[in-house]
Amino acid sequence: DRSLKIAPSILAADFANFGAECEAVEAQGADWVHVDVMDGHFVPNISFGPATCAAIRPHIKGVMDVHLMIAPVDPFIDAFAHAGADVITAHVEAGPHIHRTLQAIRGAGAKAGLALNPGTPVEAAIPLLDDVDLVCVMTVNPGFGGQKFIHGQIAKIEALRAAIGDRPVHIEVDGGVDPVTAPHVVAAGADVLVAGSAVFKGGSVSDPDPYGINIAAI
Ligand code: DX5
Ligand code: ZN
Repeated sequence: DRSLKIAPSILAADFANFGAECEAVEAQGADWVHVDVMDGHFVPNISFGPATCAAIRPHIKGVMDVHLMIAPVDPFIDAFAHAGADVITAHVEAGPHIHRTLQAIRGAGAKAGLALNPGTPVEAAIPLLDDVDLVCVMTVNPGFGGQKFIHGQIAKIEALRAAIGDRPVHIEVDGGVDPVTAPHVVAAGADVLVAGSAVFKGGSVSDPDPYGINIAAI
């Protein structure tokens, strides 16, 4: 399904109200909910882990898209699968055996995602395209929301779309996606747009107008 999917990142949501925030973005038309897991080791920030994913799962009707910014990955795959992740994405930079990791994710019953940091060439994904359901092109350095979109990644998205060909592999773009940058990544071939600050803008569902933009307009 190459139709455009918007995946709000709850990293920008109200951490004390994840359940309500997930329900609110789905009510506004979000297709997936993106869950950013950070370990303070692979990236210089700590967010939350499998217990939080399990707690929010009942509040998400659609796809729970778990982005692991952790190293190592393999010891935690089962925990995130049991927490109800539909997609589990691991970074190619997170260890020496990414193919094994992708196999383990599928073995645990989830869709397998492969993420590439901005400094990682598209070639890193090419040998793995038959073993993934999604490639996530990072358009910021992972670790924090609210960073500036790195335009140089557009060429990577285009090259990836060409390399994927007819395979049923999603291209997700993560970082600095907003109404200005979104059209560029869609034109380049992305079909899943992660958006944190552009969706939540630091607001919460208890605000009268919590979301700065209409999700459908991204
Ligand atoms: C960055 C995360 C992103 C981030 C996106 O490490 O992977 O998902 O939360 O946030 P924005 O949309 O604010 O750049
Ligand atoms: Zn992410």
